[in-house]
Formats: sequence, C-alpha cells, structure tokens
Amino acid sequence: MSPFLLLALLGITVPRVQALTCYWGTLVSVMNASELPLQWTTSQKHCEEGWSCQDVLMLMENGPQVYVVLIKGCTQAADHEDLITQHRAGPGLSIASYTRVCREDLCNHLSTSLPLWAPHPPPALGSVRCPVCLSAQSCRSAAELTCPAESTHCYSGHLLLSAENRSTHLRVQGCISQTGCNLLNGTREIGPISLQETCDSEAMLTCHRGVMLRTSQDLTQKPVTWSANSEQLCNRGEVCQETLLLIDVGLRSLLVGSKGCSKARTQDSQAISIHSGPPGVLVASFARFCTSDKCNSAASSSVLLNSLPRPAAPAPGDLQCPTCLSVFGSCTQNSDTVMCPKGTSHCYQGYIALRGGGLSSPVDIQGCVAQPSSSLLNGTQNIGVFSVIEDHDEAIVPGGAAPTLVPDGAAPAPYLAWVAGLGLSLALWCGAPSLLTPFPHDS
Ligand SMILES: *[C@@H]1O[C@H](CO)[C@@H](O)[C@H](O)[C@H]1NC(C)=O
Ligand SMILES: *[C@@H]1O[C@H](CO)[C@@H](O)[C@H](O)[C@H]1NC(C)=O
Ligand SMILES: *[C@@H]1O[C@H](CO)[C@@H](O)[C@H](O)[C@H]1NC(C)=O
Ligand SMILES: *[C@@H]1O[C@H](CO)[C@@H](O)[C@H](O)[C@H]1NC(C)=O
Repeated sequence: MSPFLLLALLGITVPRVQALTCYWGTLVSVMNASELPLQWTTSQKHCEEGWSCQDVLMLMENGPQVYVVLIKGCTQAADHEDLITQHRAGPGLSIASYTRVCREDLCNHLSTSLPLWAPHPPPALGSVRCPVCLSAQSCRSAAELTCPAESTHCYSGHLLLSAENRSTHLRVQGCISQTGCNLLNGTREIGPISLQETCDSEAMLTCHRGVMLRTSQDLTQKPVTWSANSEQLCNRGEVCQETLLLIDVGLRSLLVGSKGCSKARTQDSQAISIHSGPPGVLVASFARFCTSDKCNSAASSSVLLNSLPRPAAPAPGDLQCPTCLSVFGSCTQNSDTVMCPKGTSHCYQGYIALRGGGLSSPVDIQGCVAQPSSSLLNGTQNIGVFSVIEDHDEAIVPGGAAPTLVPDGAAPAPYLAWVAGLGLSLALWCGAPSLLTPFPHDS
C-alpha cells in the first residue's frame, strides 16, 4: 500500500503535489552599464506536476559593460530561499548571482537587477591599463582603459556558459586584482548554469553543429537551407568543419551535410570537388575546415550549387540504365529504367558508405555514367569530414558482353559493417535530434 493511501485512510490530509504556473523567460546579453539597473517583464508557463519555479540572475561587471544572464522558468531543482553570491568581488571584473527555487504560483517574481546591482560612483583609478571587453565574437578591437586602483592585473580569458541544451561563449578581457586564469574563483555552477573558463585561446573554439539529410528531385537546382541546431565546444587541436555531399542520379538527388568540430585535417581550407559527372551520375562536395569561432556557417546548399557546371539539358542518348538512389535501403527493388543523357555509355551500380561527422550511412546508387569500369569517387577516401568507401560493380554495357549484375542477396562485407551505425542514421532520418551526439553538457 502506498504511504499516501495509508495516510489518507487514516484521515490525515496530504498536501497535493500541484502543477505550478511560473514566470518564464531567458535573457543573455552584454549591456552598457549605464542601462542598469534593469527591469523586465516575462511571460508565464504551466509547469509539470511537482516542478518548482526558478529565478536565476547572473551579472558580470566589467567597467562600462555588464554581462547579464537571466533564466526564469520551471525546474526540478530543490527549493531554496533567495541566495545572493559574490563569486568574484570587484572593482574591475566582478561576478555575482541571485538564485531562488520556490513552490508557489508565480513566486519567481524577481523583476529587477537591483538585488545584485546598485548604482555606484566610479572607483578611484590606479595606473594599470588593460584592454576591456565582453564579446561573443572577438576582442580584437577592445578599448584600453585605466583600471581601478585595486586592480593590478589584466585578465584575458574565455567563458563557456551552458544551461539546458544551450551554450554561449564569451570572450573576457578586463582589470582584475590577481594573476592567473581564475576569474570564476572556483564557481562551476550557478543554478542551472554550468560555467567553464580557460585562458588558452586555442582550447576554446566553438563551432556550429548539426547534420542534414535531404532527398528530393531537384537538389542540384534549388538551394536548400543548411542550418545547424546547436553549438559545440571543440577539444584542443580540433577545428570547425562543414561538409556537404551531393549525389544526383537524374531522377533523384541526395544532400548530406555535417557541421561540427573535427580533428584538424587541414587548418584553414575550402574545397569544392566534382567527383563524378555530369553527364550521368553527379557526385560533388563542398568541404570547409576553419579555425575561428562558428566559422562553419554556410547557410545554404548554394555554396556548392553555385560552383556546379550547368550544362544545357542534355539530349537523351540511346542507352537505358536502371536508376536509383537509396539511403538505408537497397536499390534492387526500387529502380526505374531511364533513357541516359548523351555522353554516357555505361550503367553504374554500387554504393558509397559514408561515415563521420555525426552520421553513418550507406547510399545505394544506380545510374548512367560516361566511362566503363568507372568509379564515382576514383579512390577518394575522405570527403571533408566523411570517410567514404565505394564499392561498385564493373560498369555494364547493357546488352553487351559484360555480365549482368544480379546481387545475390549477400551484401558485400563493408556494407554489413556500416549497418551497425544504422540506428543512429535512421534516428537522424526521422528527425529525432536527441539521438544525435548531444552537446557535451558539463554536468
Ligand atoms: C553607454 O551609454 C553611455 C550613456 O548613455 C554612452 O555615452 C556610451 O556611448 C554607451 N557606450 C556604449 C559602448 O554603448
Ligand atoms: C573567492 O571565493 C572565496 C570563497 O568562495 C571568497 O571568500 C573570496 O572573497 C573570493 N575572491 C574574490 C576575489 O572574490
Ligand atoms: C583518378 O585518380 C588517379 C590517381 O589518383 C588520377 O591519375 C586520375 O586522373 C583520376 N581520374 C579522374 C577521372 O579524376
Ligand atoms: C533538450 O534536449 C532534449 C533532447 O533533445 C529535449 O528533449 C529537451 O526538450 C531539450 N530541453 C530544452 C529546454 O530545450
């Protein structure tokens, strides 16, 4: 018997776990100190049963600028009274936070920054001058300012703040009272926010991260959006990459894209490659490796399409080939026979196994090609972040001497090896982002 039921039978009332309504909103911004104190209004949200309301405000002051992080909403964290913490005392760089978790409707009603910030006279200045900057991008053009008298050192570092699935990266330069890379003074968490600090500029590269898989008839003609839904903090020695692979067999085309961190294959490079065709099966790729924050930011497949040859619609030749493009499937049941374009002379049948950059998938391909025994990739083993393995039959001249290909049901060995990654790929295909390697959330 549940203890609640027992208590109920005994006539003792048990407080019901009720679903709360909480104030709800998020703000992450670098502001001019003259704009403080801040006031805000937020919307409301109905929480799940048993959840509490949460208020989190963090202010980092840095001379004329203030970094403001405000999170209001529902939480499963344990309730606690107002908690004001000075993580790093000023003058110069200072960090303070206000947190509260409470269990009443709309109890997270903090609506100003006043608990953490009161107007104060400018501090007495000393003689040290430091670049002062708070920026999500670059501090290259930071203004150099005279520090307060107690601030004897210049700080230069990077913070990564993560909360729930989101993260933001902030470059910080300013005046501080001690040497070293210890702006956070031991703080690792502020409510739901986890904080990381480093002063090693190489270690803090942030990249866009995401994968894309599209099939359609006209991906060689119509650009599609290529966005990434999250960000990733790279490990030391990694760079940002973005890779887009286009395969077109005429009736159908496939775009596979990946963005993220990658072991530095090349430092800064950008390449467009036409691996095969036209005429016939087109395989083309765009690959970029770059070394500044979120530089893997191509927003559309036009980065590749604009560089493709645009032959006039080719006249049909007199060859016919089975044509198919199939991800996670086999072509044998799906082939349509088409008239090949002029200039092609053989039928291709094979597959390309793609792995890396967050996905793993075999692509079955049938179509018209221009050369006998032609490989679509000509031995290429890497396309941007992808490792590629191609396996193909000798190209066939239909009706000619070459033996007709009839797959005997047994997939070639590499294919089987790739099927191990299929769950991941399928999840991707169905658009369930949770199965993609999530952002490495520091918890
Ligand atoms: C901050 O605000 C002050 C007063 O409104 C203004 O003079 C100054 O230019 C602002 N600074 C920045 C960086 O926007
Ligand atoms: C660093 O943190 C300790 C305890 O958490 C605190 O006593 C100290 O004042 C902090 N130092 C600065 C410079 O804020
Ligand atoms: C295929 O690769 C070989 C050796 O890497 C090269 O010599 C040849 O030109 C390539 N063929 C095509 C069609 O690119
Ligand atoms: C975080 O990601 C998980 C899995 O993708 C998702 O279920 C959850 O709703 C996300 N949370 C927020 C606050 O976006």
